[in-house]
Amino acid sequence: MKRIIIVGGGVIGLSIAFELMKKGCNVTLLEKGKLAGKASGAAAGMLGVHTETRGNPSMTSLAKESRDLFPALAEQLLNCSGIDIGLRQNGMIMPAMTGREQHLLQEEANSPQGMKEELRWLEERELRKMEPSLSRSFIGGLYIPRDGNLLAPRLSEALAISAATMGAVLHEGTEVNTLIMKGRSIIGVNTTRGPLYGDEVVVAGGAWSQHILRRVGIKLDAAPVKGECISVTPKEGFLNRTIVSDDVYLVPKADGTLTIGATEQVGSFSEDVAAESVSRLLAKACTIAPGIAAAAWGKAWAGTRPKTSSRLPFMGRVPDVEGLSLATGHYRNGILLAPITGVLMADLLSDKDCERRLGYEYTRQWDRNRGSTTSEVSR
Ligand code: FAD
Ligand code: GLY
Repeated sequence: MKRIIIVGGGVIGLSIAFELMKKGCNVTLLEKGKLAGKASGAAAGMLGVHTETRGNPSMTSLAKESRDLFPALAEQLLNCSGIDIGLRQNGMIMPAMTGREQHLLQEEANSPQGMKEELRWLEERELRKMEPSLSRSFIGGLYIPRDGNLLAPRLSEALAISAATMGAVLHEGTEVNTLIMKGRSIIGVNTTRGPLYGDEVVVAGGAWSQHILRRVGIKLDAAPVKGECISVTPKEGFLNRTIVSDDVYLVPKADGTLTIGATEQVGSFSEDVAAESVSRLLAKACTIAPGIAAAAWGKAWAGTRPKTSSRLPFMGRVPDVEGLSLATGHYRNGILLAPITGVLMADLLSDKDCERRLGYEYTRQWDRNRGSTTSEVSR
């Protein structure tokens, strides 16, 4: 049985562990802090195929496929772990306040980019009826009925418990210091608790992946992007669907809270929340749905998104290095892409022919002279 070591206990590492356990592999996952203690616990949990892959069409089909895996996954996780991940497939709306915004969104609704069948323009009256709490200044909106959201920390928790129930070994508080190399092969990892050897090592260290890889001479073209969110509890039924505008999103969650996000700060690993960010997010949210001002205050938090320069994740084997794979760089969509990442990576690690069988093409260009890497995943 193949012994697979996964570095990183965020949603990506955990999804890979879960899918590998379904295939009967021997999996050990190493997490330097707490499982889902970084980006995966901070995520707003949106499953926004359209809103998040606008301007990045190579991602759309992958994101759609991943989103559509959630209903079956939610059921499997409930059966296996007893945890309800709070999946809500209740749609998203991008509202328009001006004629120009309306024109741009309507153009999107009619664009031939593969989402056309999933987008519908709502006239003002219909929008008001569907979301009466929205500002009266909106004149219509783009409706994306098949997108939705979930409770992100619960997804990771359910994946962890399910993987462990099937026999995966998950170690918290265990940092991987270096990868152990023999010739051009990776044969294990050195950790704060000693060395561990395996047949395959998968680096799923989120925004910290480049630090792990740098030590074996591999440079990822990636950067951390800090994000801050806040949450409030409005009156029941305040919003029914996720609302996304250019600079803020409102996500009504299954537990009755409303997540409001998010800021972006490139290059920062800080987990502090700036008072100014809280006030800016709240002010923008109140412009969209003024009743938020009366909601009960919840909390504020921050996390670090792993961004690549192409805005596409690195998924697959590292060329010219035996036994080393990557699954990182999911940026704003790690929750959305977790199911498909788990499935593809588990196939890749357990079956050499999977790239051809799945019909996915993985292309990577390694520019060793410039020391950078770019990766693309396309259908
Ligand atoms: P992480 O969750 O960061 O996990 C990586 C783990 O690796 C960490 O726990 C870390 O401690 C561990 N690690 C690192 N180095 C080592 C080492 N040397 N040894 C051992 N362990 C190590 N995505 C969506 O799809 N929808 C959303 O609505 C959404 N909203 C977001 C809102 C915010 C504010 C933020 C910050 C992100 C959001 N995201 C969202 C993005 C999503 O959270 C990330 O893409 C995803 O969580 C990345 O998962 P990961 O497992 O790669 O990284
Ligand atoms: N996908 C939402 C965010 O990253 O803020």
